[in-house]
Amino acid sequence: MADNKAKVLSVNNLVVNFKTDNGIVKAVRDVSFDLYQGETLCIVGESGSGKSVTSKAIMGILSHNAIIANGNIIYRGENLLEVSEEEFYKIRGHKIGMIFQDPLSALNPIVKIGKQITEATLINSDKLKLMYNDLISDDLIRYKNTLAKMNIEIDTEKKKLDAFILEAKTKEGLSSEKKAKLREEIKQRKADYKQLVKDTKAKYMGKAKELKAVLGETQKKAKKQVAEYKTQVNAEHKAKISELKSQLSAAKSDEEVKNIKKAIAEADEDHINKLKITKAEAKRRALEIMREVGIPEPEKRYKQYPFEFSGGMRQRIVIAIALTASPEILICDEPTTALDVTIQAQILELINRIKAERKLSCIFITHDLGVVANMADRVAVMYAGKIVEYGTSDEIFYDPRHPYTWALLSSIPDVDSKERLEAIPGTPPNMIYPPKGDAFAARSKYAMNIDYREQPPYFKVSDTHYAATWLLDPHAPKVEMPKIVSERIRISLEEDYNERA
Ligand SMILES: Nc1ncnc2c1ncn2[C@@H]1O[C@H](COP(=O)(O)OP(=O)(O)O)[C@@H](O)[C@H]1O
Ligand SMILES: [Mg+2]
Repeated sequence: MADNKAKVLSVNNLVVNFKTDNGIVKAVRDVSFDLYQGETLCIVGESGSGKSVTSKAIMGILSHNAIIANGNIIYRGENLLEVSEEEFYKIRGHKIGMIFQDPLSALNPIVKIGKQITEATLINSDKLKLMYNDLISDDLIRYKNTLAKMNIEIDTEKKKLDAFILEAKTKEGLSSEKKAKLREEIKQRKADYKQLVKDTKAKYMGKAKELKAVLGETQKKAKKQVAEYKTQVNAEHKAKISELKSQLSAAKSDEEVKNIKKAIAEADEDHINKLKITKAEAKRRALEIMREVGIPEPEKRYKQYPFEFSGGMRQRIVIAIALTASPEILICDEPTTALDVTIQAQILELINRIKAERKLSCIFITHDLGVVANMADRVAVMYAGKIVEYGTSDEIFYDPRHPYTWALLSSIPDVDSKERLEAIPGTPPNMIYPPKGDAFAARSKYAMNIDYREQPPYFKVSDTHYAATWLLDPHAPKVEMPKIVSERIRISLEEDYNERA
């Protein structure tokens, strides 16, 4: 995508493994992509390709057996993987919202819908505290991140040292000469490590101190600003009430007394609202958002339980909950997979509308390339933990290059017959033993010898379009995409042309 668009999120060389009893699952293998302001990026691939793991890594909600072995996730210039849970809870919870496949599991079955929507708002109801946090958050994150970076560098070296020592200790059958040499090397490495800790601290501590001082200043200023706001709000309220009270003592009719009393109550409420989000305000906001996501009779629905809602309505509620925090980024992980087709279309339409109205950037995850066409600005095709092809929506649909993308396109159900034209043969690989080379080779009739040996690099098709397939190597034989795909492309281009004509 053009460089003039702002990147809101950037995932770089992400590697996620899972420890299991059967071995290490290599779920995400070196995934990189950018999300640009206001766009929808669709990540598409069969079940098990690593889509959900990628989105959970962004949200910081991976299960405990997950190991992030490499990579970073940059949001607003900071690495989400390097800061503490607590710091980025704010960002993950607030600025990045997520909608899951199964709306029922996202909702608490025994809590009324209204309460579930207002909960998030009421947790952060202290407006003065929110104001303070907002004022200091950039400086706080910058400072904490510097410390985190330092610790990660030291930690990485420590892990290397420990691994070396462990390996040396378990080596068997060494001559005493070699043993002595190994001991010597361990000693040397320990000394090097000690030096590195010193150097790394020296490298970061200066900067950290500087940032801490800046943070201290910002905190002072923020405290003052918040205190001033509070004083002003209280003074305004006091003045208003004393004016109303003097009006009250001068009031001539019952009617007038009644009106002034009402005004006093209103002024009190107004005053509280300026300092904290009250239950009443949270409810008002919840009803507004319920209306926004198309829930009829929100006042009635507010008091109902999840089981009283249909699947589609439940998904609307989940979307409403995600929106209460006013996120900048919305991650939708197969949000319509559990719904039937007509409802699916409505939810997709809703997501598109909300995205446009709220100017959100969106990562939309699906196994169904058929859904992608109506949603995506850009598409990343994922297979066996890797992105095998990415490009603009047009590039992926009209000029696909990877055999896996061809296979996905062939398997989109026909609009008229609803029949899947061609199922993808075989099954995805066991990710404890991901295949060498192009992981799709075993299922592809286009596979060449090299596909079984070496991981293909990303070949550039255009500035915005890349595919990791040896077919794009200049030495590869020229092959045509499957007839079924080229026919579909021809037909839809013709339809496009006729529509325009
Ligand atoms: N908690 C876990 N423990 C072990 N393996 C997992 C875990 N979560 C996901 N995986 C594995 O990681 C791979 C990618 O899964 P996932 O991202 O959920 O795929 P999908 O593309 O269908 O969303 C799969 O092989 C899956 O079995
Ligand atoms: Mg998934």
